Amino acid sequence: MVSPTRDESPATSESNNYDRLSELKAFDETKAGVKGLVDSGITNIPRFFCNPSNDMINKSSSVSGETRSTTIPVIDLKGLVEDPVRRKEIVERVRDASETWGFFQLVNHGIPLSVLQEMETGVCRFFEQDEDLKKEFYTRDVTRKVVYNSNFDLFNSPMANWRDTCFCFMAPNPPKPEELPEACRNEMILYSKEVMKLGVSLFELLSEALGLDSNHLADIQCDEGLAFISHYYPPCPEPELTMGTAKHSDNDFLSVLLQDHIGGLQILHDDQWYDVPPVHGALVLISNDKFKSVQHRVLANRAGPRISVACFFSTSFQPSSRLYGPIKELLSEDNPPIYRETTVHEYVSYLATHGIDCPLQRFRL
Ligand code: OGA
Ligand code: NI
Repeated sequence: MVSPTRDESPATSESNNYDRLSELKAFDETKAGVKGLVDSGITNIPRFFCNPSNDMINKSSSVSGETRSTTIPVIDLKGLVEDPVRRKEIVERVRDASETWGFFQLVNHGIPLSVLQEMETGVCRFFEQDEDLKKEFYTRDVTRKVVYNSNFDLFNSPMANWRDTCFCFMAPNPPKPEELPEACRNEMILYSKEVMKLGVSLFELLSEALGLDSNHLADIQCDEGLAFISHYYPPCPEPELTMGTAKHSDNDFLSVLLQDHIGGLQILHDDQWYDVPPVHGALVLISNDKFKSVQHRVLANRAGPRISVACFFSTSFQPSSRLYGPIKELLSEDNPPIYRETTVHEYVSYLATHGIDCPLQRFRL
């Protein structure tokens, strides 16, 4: 579990002749996360956060959506329920965005702005609360109801990220209110209800966009499990040496992301990184590559802290033998399956041991 298992991992190479593992352990034992390092006044980031190839990773080329001829899709959900003509247009936009980008931003999504703002404030309150209270939630035991730590893959990845995270399943079996951190308890309960409602609409739209019955994705339980992942990205004194979140694609059915005003989120499209402002969705596995699962990352930043809340529709912690694979209704002689079927559990376990960069490849036929 502890030492890096991948051969190419720089942690095992000669150049790293310092005791990386001891440093990781010492950091983990503080239970104060990256925020603790920043609070202690460091001006250089510890080496285990640095890109192993010593590149200035954070300076690589990126473009802001506005300066390009192509712009990141923004979908307006206004009229979705009342107006059938509008609904058809929205379905087309969703299909187009999911096929070409695997990502879109939503406006008029029905979640009140106050709920979003209070959620951000609640997350900020959790990470900035009294350290001793916060430490009670610090753990690597993923069977705990609420898991706060820094870098879920701290001991397995070649480079730690400049980020602390609090993880919790809010559906279908949420913790009792008193088991949630007091700092953001009410906000989590309220926001997760709103995201579940939005999720139902989005899975209907995505089903229709795939040319399926609107209940198709709900019928295969895509909208039932919700993992709630709150991130805190402290200001970083050397942002060009590390990342807030390294490049990955999400390992769930669909992600809804709330991010604050600081920025730093980028998506990869046509081999170019694009800067993104709020709410994102990413889809995996079941559309046989008709819909993309976008690769994305978050730059470390001198400004901040940056707050984000990623809500993953996923069932990974519920024991289920249900097989997911390319949707049969979408397959034909001309469009044979590209991926084999798997369970959510197998998929997520594979990720946990092999890293999160390009997991779908493993399931190619
Ligand atoms: C994630 C993620 C982006 C962000 O949690 O998978 O990509 O803005 N988060 O924090
Ligand atoms: Ni992600």
